[in-house]
Amino acid sequence: MILDHKFDLGFFPTPLHRIKNLSEKYAPYHIFIKRDDQTGLASGGNKTRKLEYLIQEALENGCDTVITAGAQQSNHCRQTAAACAIAKLKCHLLLGGTAPQNYNGNLLLSHLLGAQIHFTVENRKGEDIYSLKNKLELEGKKPFIIPYGGSNITGALGFVNAVKELKTQLIAQNLKIDYLFFASSSGGTQAGLTLGNDLYNLNMKLIPIGIDKSETQGLSLEEVVLHLVNEGKLLLNLKKEYTIDEVKINNDYNEAGYGVITENEKGAIKELAENEGILLDPVYTGRAFYAMMDYLKKNKIRSNANILFWHTGGFPANFYYADQLK
Ligand SMILES: Cc1ncc(COP(=O)(O)O)c(C=O)c1O
Repeated sequence: MILDHKFDLGFFPTPLHRIKNLSEKYAPYHIFIKRDDQTGLASGGNKTRKLEYLIQEALENGCDTVITAGAQQSNHCRQTAAACAIAKLKCHLLLGGTAPQNYNGNLLLSHLLGAQIHFTVENRKGEDIYSLKNKLELEGKKPFIIPYGGSNITGALGFVNAVKELKTQLIAQNLKIDYLFFASSSGGTQAGLTLGNDLYNLNMKLIPIGIDKSETQGLSLEEVVLHLVNEGKLLLNLKKEYTIDEVKINNDYNEAGYGVITENEKGAIKELAENEGILLDPVYTGRAFYAMMDYLKKNKIRSNANILFWHTGGFPANFYYADQLK
């Protein structure tokens, strides 16, 4: 089966558990959390799941080098650097902005994990990947490109497999999830969860929270997700017609812009930390968790529902944003 074809990088299954204190506070809602902050790859995160499939493909293609891209505080880039270390691949990261005086958060970890870092000023979504690939090929290297956020169909398979993992846990815990909240930014997580939800008949209502309203190569995030889902359904032999409505993203919470930390994200981080001892990140999960709490406070979903928050990691970025989180 296509989903078994992967290179092991993390510790799975990640825990699925109820968050007791917040469930009491927001009763009659029952809140659960899926701990992909605990995937184990150089401080965890959702990209570990994607990288298991992407690194497998790189190795099968006989590549010796990986190139990927993101923001300076990219969790994807940090996990890619760690994955390359394990798989003995050279890692090149193209990161937006200019070289800072001090390295901090994910950037520091990517450096410690052995990645070669290139600063690409206004380009943080992989616009310079092909020119670096050509240069490395002239030097005799065999580079493998991992797109921005690891969000192609190979990477998205990681989240189809994640739903399979979730299903096993739900059966064991005798649990049915009604609503699933998570952060959506480059689309691979959402595409995989959408396909997995249908493939494994979990019938969860997905509520993706948009983090970054800017387009990727001229496409909106919903268009990117729809493309991935349509590609994936053929691979998985899933008989379903998807429309843009099925991949709708809630963009009500990203007005401040990507990576801009407001009282919302700070408040959400503190609420989960102070009540449950679990740490979110300020860019992705802090925003998505704030959105979920807002739904609950405003009774936007039916009472008594079982709600799952998919914790996609990102903890190291808290150190970079320390001043805004004080
Ligand atoms: C912590 C965290 N959560 C969520 C996401 C969003 O995942 P995706 O890019 O697959 O939409 C990312 C992506 O970088 C992330 O780092």
